[in-house]
Amino acid sequence: MTHRAHNFSAGPAAIPLPVLERAQSELLDYGGTGMSIMEQSHRGPTYDAVHNRAIADLRSLLGISDDYAVLFMQGGARGQFAMLAMNLLGDGVGAYVDTGNWSFLAEKEAAKFGRTATVWTGRDEGYCRVPAADEIAVPAGASYLHYTSNNTIYGTQFPGTPDPGDVPLICDMSSDILSRPTDVNRFGLIYAGAQKNLGPAGVVLVIVRKDLLALSHDKLPETMSYKLMAAKNSMLNTPPTFAIYLVGLVAQHLVGLGGLDAVEAINERKAELLYRTIDESGGFYSPNAAPGSRSRMNVSFRSPSAELDARFVAESAAADLVGLKGHRSAGGLRASIYNAVPEESVRALVDFMGDFARRCG
Ligand SMILES: Cc1ncc(COP(=O)(O)O)c(C=O)c1O
Repeated sequence: MTHRAHNFSAGPAAIPLPVLERAQSELLDYGGTGMSIMEQSHRGPTYDAVHNRAIADLRSLLGISDDYAVLFMQGGARGQFAMLAMNLLGDGVGAYVDTGNWSFLAEKEAAKFGRTATVWTGRDEGYCRVPAADEIAVPAGASYLHYTSNNTIYGTQFPGTPDPGDVPLICDMSSDILSRPTDVNRFGLIYAGAQKNLGPAGVVLVIVRKDLLALSHDKLPETMSYKLMAAKNSMLNTPPTFAIYLVGLVAQHLVGLGGLDAVEAINERKAELLYRTIDESGGFYSPNAAPGSRSRMNVSFRSPSAELDARFVAESAAADLVGLKGHRSAGGLRASIYNAVPEESVRALVDFMGDFARRCG
């Protein structure tokens, strides 16, 4: 049997085992072509079918209407911090909700291209929560409202969707896309780096309302223009074909599980088990996120001391529980329990946590 670790990495992260097995089985001879999918022209019919099937399955999972274009882009989610502003900021103000490092960096990058405003920040509270709906006021003259639905580092997540008033709502959904049903119609644009819930690193999913494409002006670099990428079905230049193929397999896998309602139910169970273990540890473990803001994807927590955190990381790794060290900017511990992390891995983790607390508490 192949050795598979319990993988709690924040990203690149676990990929569903059936997806890896299918990719393995198709690696040398994709569909009788005598070649791997990554060895084929992106202009040929075989890749074209893979590309369009991936888009179709994403559309079906998220209920994306024809009012939206589905793009595969490059440059990582951070590339979108800039591209978003290059395409959509114009002369208006980019309004940003600052719920952690990534949203902070998104605004900083956008500020190179125009005016921005921080409409709420959780910095002084250690990014332990996301704002309530009535704490976000979008300024007059805003081009859009940007927020990060799930804060990968601090382990917080918006339980619902903020109301942007009459400006487009933009969301960095990198670390919780496809983890729950989402009403795409409420958004102007959603972007997500693939390497957490969608597949491997190297591709970014962008879902953009088609009326916004007119804002992409002609001076933009071609591969960074939403308008041109949409016009060319993301094949203006060579797309990251193998990454898109894997994203397509992940989407097929989720369709097979019963879609996002089914996926959400599994994610709820996993998160509930982990938070219950933290809450019932008699104070040994403490979560970073305040009640009401707890992420179901990244559970950031700590033990009573930095020394015990380090021991936890070393001993858990020895028990084949991998990737539990907190992000360098937040410290502590973090269990990323994306879609592809099996419930069995979460059970192994909570068993380890209980044992560790008994030995060290
Ligand atoms: C929410 C969020 N946004 C953006 C990024 C940056 O992604 P990338 O490394 O693809 O640029 C990350 C990476 O972890 C993230 O978690």
